[in-house]
Amino acid sequence: MRTHVIDHPLVDHKLTTLRDERTDSPTFRRLTDELVTLLAYEATRDVRVEATSITTPVSPTAGVKLATPKPLVVPILRAGLGMLDGMVRLLPTAEVGFLGMVRNEETLEASTYAERLPDDLSGRQCYVLDPMLATGGTLAAAIRFLTDRGADHITAICLLAAPEGCARLEQELADLDVPVTIVTAAMDERLNDKGYIVPGLGDAGDRLYGVV
Ligand code: URA
Repeated sequence: MRTHVIDHPLVDHKLTTLRDERTDSPTFRRLTDELVTLLAYEATRDVRVEATSITTPVSPTAGVKLATPKPLVVPILRAGLGMLDGMVRLLPTAEVGFLGMVRNEETLEASTYAERLPDDLSGRQCYVLDPMLATGGTLAAAIRFLTDRGADHITAICLLAAPEGCARLEQELADLDVPVTIVTAAMDERLNDKGYIVPGLGDAGDRLYGVV
């Protein structure tokens, strides 16, 4: 597994406002959107392309286009939905599948409550959207779900990550022969005893959509 922490002053600037408890939901949603587009630029560095030829107004030339099968973007419900627009802005022709996972707040274990994904993901590059890589339970389960269906290249985009979550992913996915990359805006200090990232930004779903 490869972890890529984006080092860019604009990312740090937007992340600082995102973390601030005074930032309201509309601003939080806008900043999430902008941050994801910046992260997506790095996260798609390995997106598969194939050769094509076109003609400019001046001459024929060779170029590339996104390969088929098209990449699949998979937001993890609920908070991952807040990252979808920012991602598809950069990859407008990608397909989008949905995975609903919920974390039991006592055991911190993740389970699937909804999914809308192709049965066969053979040869698909998947971009998983999950804002908070905290314990790693949800993301490990989501990645396992996708590779069990045949996905052969996984990139997870997270706003924030905790070292404990990355360690758990390393351990739980050690047997996978599929490349997994985590792209994040920051690697925070640790988790607290409730499984929240410290300093973090609080509950990403609540800050995006309110407490429901
Ligand atoms: N999920 C969140 O929304 N925030 C955290 O800090 C950890 C998990």
